[in-house]
Amino acid sequence: MVSSVLLALLAAASAPLLSSAQTQITVNGTSSHPIPSTLWGLMFEDISHSGDGGLYGELLQNRAFQQVTPGTTAALNAWSAVGNTTLSVIADSPAISSSLPNALSVTFPSGAPRSGVQNSGYFGIAVRASSTYTASFFYRFPSTLPSAALTATVSLAGASSGTTFASGTVALRPTAQWTQATVALRPRTSAPDINNVFEVTLAAGAFVGTVHLGMFSLFPPTFGGQANGMRADIAQALLDLKPSFFRLPGGNNLEGQTIAQRWQWNNTVGPLTARPGRVGDWGYVNTDGLGLYEYLVWIELMGMVPIMAIWSGFALGGAAVPANQLAPYIEQSRQQIEFVIGSTSTPGGALRASLGHPAPFPLLYVEVGNEDFLQPSTYQSYRWAAFVNALQADYPNLRFLATSSFNSPALSPKPQSWDIHVYQTPTWFTQNSAFYDSFARDGTTFFEGEYAAISTNPNDIFGAPSSGRLVYPTVQSAVSEAAFMMGFERNADVVFAASYAPLLAHVTQNQWTPNLLSFDSGTVIKSTSYWAQWMFSNNRGDVYLPSTLASTSGALFWSVVQRVSPPAFIIKVSNTGTSASTGVFRLPSAVASTGQLIQLAGAANASNTPTTPSAITPQSRTIATGQNLSFSAPAMSLSVITVALV
Ligand SMILES: *[C@@H]1O[C@H](CO)[C@@H](O)[C@H](O)[C@H]1NC(C)=O
Ligand SMILES: *[C@@H]1O[C@H](CO)[C@@H](O)[C@H](O)[C@H]1NC(C)=O
Ligand SMILES: *[C@@H]1O[C@H](CO)[C@@H](O)[C@H](O)[C@H]1NC(C)=O
Ligand SMILES: *[C@@H]1O[C@H](CO)[C@@H](O)[C@H](O)[C@H]1NC(C)=O
Ligand SMILES: *[C@@H]1O[C@H](CO)[C@@H](O)[C@H](O)[C@H]1NC(C)=O
Repeated sequence: MVSSVLLALLAAASAPLLSSAQTQITVNGTSSHPIPSTLWGLMFEDISHSGDGGLYGELLQNRAFQQVTPGTTAALNAWSAVGNTTLSVIADSPAISSSLPNALSVTFPSGAPRSGVQNSGYFGIAVRASSTYTASFFYRFPSTLPSAALTATVSLAGASSGTTFASGTVALRPTAQWTQATVALRPRTSAPDINNVFEVTLAAGAFVGTVHLGMFSLFPPTFGGQANGMRADIAQALLDLKPSFFRLPGGNNLEGQTIAQRWQWNNTVGPLTARPGRVGDWGYVNTDGLGLYEYLVWIELMGMVPIMAIWSGFALGGAAVPANQLAPYIEQSRQQIEFVIGSTSTPGGALRASLGHPAPFPLLYVEVGNEDFLQPSTYQSYRWAAFVNALQADYPNLRFLATSSFNSPALSPKPQSWDIHVYQTPTWFTQNSAFYDSFARDGTTFFEGEYAAISTNPNDIFGAPSSGRLVYPTVQSAVSEAAFMMGFERNADVVFAASYAPLLAHVTQNQWTPNLLSFDSGTVIKSTSYWAQWMFSNNRGDVYLPSTLASTSGALFWSVVQRVSPPAFIIKVSNTGTSASTGVFRLPSAVASTGQLIQLAGAANASNTPTTPSAITPQSRTIATGQNLSFSAPAMSLSVITVALV
């Protein structure tokens, strides 16, 4: 007791000696603007297996041999033989469906031991005792029919240990027609790691001949129990961010490398057997199992609203559709919008209703293309106008977002909103905290749709990790992004939405780093930048209170907002410097004598990684507060102080 009191006294006595630079901050009690409820949200596209192998709950990779070349080794991606079978991918006749032409041909020789096929999942499969897995596949016997039904064993097993964690049996009828088999798997024990496989096998000597298999699926319980739904732990990590909106379906992945490879909404809805999949923009086939309807239902379940992109006549490889050939593409976009919000008396609305959602989804924002600053000339000369003029006439209540550079070239009709992207260094974000301060207040609003501190080397923003490119966000990333985010609250009269990007990546995929969340098939890693987003989104205000402006050449940044109920001031402070810095906030009215502090801090280069997933997490404690609130922000820290009005 005595010693702790003494320590406290000593600490108090020595405080003035340690006092760092002080910044006097006057907070005006008259709100300058409300903060839109849409401000904090999520940007999504299938990149780095964020969708297939990530958010989308399907566990089997290359489940339906979509968009592969029959006969090639590559077509067998993730598949291998068990025992003595011979495997090849073929273009089958009959096909499972016109959208799924390919199948896996499996030949069992005479005298084979237990044999069949296995799938290694998306770089492993998590097997949990508490879960029921739903497995299914299609089969047919193309030539020799077995004399009676065969009993196939479907199992989850250790890839190297051979341990069987769950198995079930299913009868394969002697038929040449495509037939679906379904079985539930309930593991008795959890696997110790993710090095597991899914197997379909026949007992030794059970069959000599060939069976064709296709359209496999293996689902664990999904988030909210949705059929064909989302992976529960990733969805929960996103829900914890309390996101308000979800941008879909990209990003570059909307565009396609070629016009034919663009994302097309109508290829992503309906039965899984009706979805051909597509060659995505990021080096792997997209199953499109995570289709437009799945996105929208999940967005609703999460309490978000969609910001939906339409294809704007430009493919990433450089091809632009000529002006006189745009009509069918505009019509396809119109049908996409109709599917989302059309009345059930329209074909699109009727299709939506037939899938289980008669009510329109709450769509307000439609983004025309993605990053059309890559092809500004055709966007300016005809593509923007052609899409917007046609669609605005049909849907006068929608707001269309432009994606070329916001200040030039000028677009006609003048966009109501823009999507702005920034990938930069931590230093850039710190120095550009006032980025939106000078924007005109003329009714135009802005979506900061992609931003991240991706490198510490200003000369090589998109370079390799050795050049400063980050693999995982650092504490410095998080606090400097936070400095920039202070500017979103201060300019929330023109910035209506903001989202970090990219959102999600499998840890084996380093094509585009860093990411907000990283994962493997068993775990999710929350980055330092994730925690910064979490701190802003979970501590929103209703109105912004102007305060003394921070110096953009300094290290300390802040934002003060007021929450209506229960009434509180919420003060966010980012110290991007290498020493502690004190802000003295002169609040406009009396407050409680204690408040709640949530703080993220650490070494500038510290990250949460697969080996140290929780190295840096926000810490919470009670602090002394008052109307003159002196707060010492540690070096490299982000703090949120909530103090009740009295
Ligand atoms: C607070 O802001 C209001 C509205 O802009 C302004 O009229 C007033 O002068 C400001 N008060 C102080 C103390 O700066
Ligand atoms: C299975 O194949 C392996 C490797 O080709 C061979 O050594 C083995 O004899 C075969 N077993 C049977 C039962 O045919
Ligand atoms: C989707 O629409 C496009 C263009 O309207 C059409 O070419 C394509 O066949 C459709 N896809 C399916 C699966 O119907
Ligand atoms: C961070 O920087 C320190 C000091 O330069 C260095 O010793 C340490 O290895 C770095 N840590 C990481 C994770 O890069
Ligand atoms: C806050 O500090 C200022 C300047 O030192 C002083 O004038 C004012 O009285 C203080 N207010 C309160 C509530 O302590």
